[in-house]
Amino acid sequence: PPAISQVEGSCGLRTGNCRAKGGSPGFKVAILGAAGGIGQPLVMLMKMNPLVSVLHLYDVVNTPGVTADISHMDTGAVVRGFLGKEQLEDALIGMDLVIIPAGVPRKPGMTRDDLFNINAGIVKTLCEGISKCCPKAIVNLISNPVNSTVPIAAEVFKKAGIYDPRKLLGVTMLDVVRSNTFVAEVLGLDPREVDVPVVGGHAGATILPLLSQVKPPCSFTVEETEHLTSRIQNGGTEVVEAKAGAGSATLSMAYAAVKFADACLRGLRGDAGVVECAFVSSQVTELPFFATRVRLGCNGIEEIYPLGPLNEYERAGLEKAKKELAGSIEKGISFATK
Ligand code: NAI
Repeated sequence: PPAISQVEGSCGLRTGNCRAKGGSPGFKVAILGAAGGIGQPLVMLMKMNPLVSVLHLYDVVNTPGVTADISHMDTGAVVRGFLGKEQLEDALIGMDLVIIPAGVPRKPGMTRDDLFNINAGIVKTLCEGISKCCPKAIVNLISNPVNSTVPIAAEVFKKAGIYDPRKLLGVTMLDVVRSNTFVAEVLGLDPREVDVPVVGGHAGATILPLLSQVKPPCSFTVEETEHLTSRIQNGGTEVVEAKAGAGSATLSMAYAAVKFADACLRGLRGDAGVVECAFVSSQVTELPFFATRVRLGCNGIEEIYPLGPLNEYERAGLEKAKKELAGSIEKGISFATK
């Protein structure tokens, strides 16, 4: 593959400058795992995103068909397909943003951690490719268990000497999307008007919706708080069980992934005030990674916000979340460093 210095076009990330606001920035985006349940609706929605000028579809199966299909959409982005490991580097060269939904999903009865053995290796290989071909790209990691795959990615990038914690983001947006929907249902509001910060991580008890900080300001009874917290924490399992063996959330996940990717691209473009929740390298707690609200900008994460005031229920939830998270983070780090 061509060396990084030969990459065409100018990337705001590489120069450290934001793209001109309001113009057509034309970002290059790669999706790894593009032919999968999340991958296919994700590439369709990204092909519709006016901020994207080039869209690379990579998978180990079926990319020619998905690419041919998507390429007929009359939107601006140029679509190219890449199949199999020998084409991974070509898929990655010059990318501004890499979105990773590659790997196996859950079946009923499985936890996200049960996916570790297969997905850890997949994420490691893909991140080695990123280190080599687009070390300055923003990475949106969707593959589960996110609580472990993000630490794995960080270790791979460290080993390659290219780790920039501002550019590695575990995607927890689906937890926020679900929270907004479920809270809106309880409050009788339009979900688009609701904003629920979700902190911690992306599995069971580590998913911590901060219902005391919901916008618009509102209050919940103890029963409502318990019902909502439990439904949000088990939202993924609700879908896994309904799909009865056919996989986990794909359509709502693709929607959430695009919402999050679009926020990253708007940040890269230089838009002000782009704030979303993500699982990132963090000093908000004693853990090395934690999900909180972050401000996205030209360099990826520009600012990590503190947790804000928590009520007693949330403080107890936080302690529980931290305990489980610590183990998942450690598991990822030891896999990548062994
Ligand atoms: P899927 O099985 O439908 O698709 C996964 C795709 O990854 C397949 O097309 C497969 O060929 C591809 N793949 C496998 N190994 C690969 C490799 N080495 N390189 C590139 N591609 C490879 O699974 P689905 O439903 O799309 O889920 C993907 C992942 O996303 C799972 O790990 C799932 O747990 C996770 N997920 C994460 C969520 C989040 O909120 N972060 C929500 C829902 C799912």
